Amino acid sequence: MLIKVLNDLWFSAGRWPLDPDSPTLVFIHGSGGDQTLWDRQFDALVDVANTIALDLPGHGTSRKPGCDRVPDYAAAVAGFLENLRPPRPIPCGLSIGGAIVLQLLLERPRLLAAGVLMGTGARLRVLPEIFETIATDYEGFVDMLGRIGASAQTDPACLLPVRRAAAACPPAVTAGDFKACDRFDVMDRLDRIDRPVLVVSGAEDKLTPPKYSDFLEAHIPGAVRARIPAAGHLMPVEQPEAVNQVLRVFVAGLPDSA
Ligand code: COA
Repeated sequence: MLIKVLNDLWFSAGRWPLDPDSPTLVFIHGSGGDQTLWDRQFDALVDVANTIALDLPGHGTSRKPGCDRVPDYAAAVAGFLENLRPPRPIPCGLSIGGAIVLQLLLERPRLLAAGVLMGTGARLRVLPEIFETIATDYEGFVDMLGRIGASAQTDPACLLPVRRAAAACPPAVTAGDFKACDRFDVMDRLDRIDRPVLVVSGAEDKLTPPKYSDFLEAHIPGAVRARIPAAGHLMPVEQPEAVNQVLRVFVAGLPDSA
């Protein structure tokens, strides 16, 4: 796994240089996270795509401060894509990462070949308890993330990368991420999306319940839907093989011109 920096954003690439004939999955992590969320997707999918996983501003090893608005994160990712110019980019985001993908699909569609919206929604209001716990008991927040973020059936050991990333993320950055989610609302603009979109939901997701994905599927023209059984919000680490399979099928089904 390679670690590089571009536009002050650190990222890993599954192969380098990128294969110009393959599409490029660009993985974007969730609130208070980092690129390690995608460790189980990263190498496993190089048979169908170039893979890139980045640390958003303020997260992991990326410099620059974090943001508290989704459009600001989307602008940072757009600048990264404009500089890197990966072949046929397909951003794939979880939670706030998915909101960033939605923002890019709406504002910068010509930069993208397609998009993957995983465990996310067109509106992402946040429980007041999440803000309170981040402000008063950050370790408690990390525990809470594991508790409400995953299915009760999930082996807690799977969640270690997520817990480690959240514990390392400055609380102010995590709070900014959730503030950005709370402000996010593109519910009335989804019909303008004109790129191929895959919507992925965890059957037991309590943070972005499947009804949020139902809404995306119903309002994004031509959207394809996949459901991950026995998974909560943190599906890339909870059910990596199932997640990889739906990504593989979606990417393989895209036309070469996408
Ligand atoms: N897609 C489809 N429907 C949505 C939606 C979305 N993205 N976001 C909200 N809605 C629906 C809700 O289900 C609700 O419908 P209902 O009246 O039929 O129950 C309605 O729109 C209003 O919901 P919301 O905007 O969320 O406001 P609220 O005051 O009812 O609830 C919370 C606020 C925080 C309790 C609620 O949003 C919640 O439980 N969120 C999930 C937990 C969380 O904090 N997630 C973090 C996201 S990053």
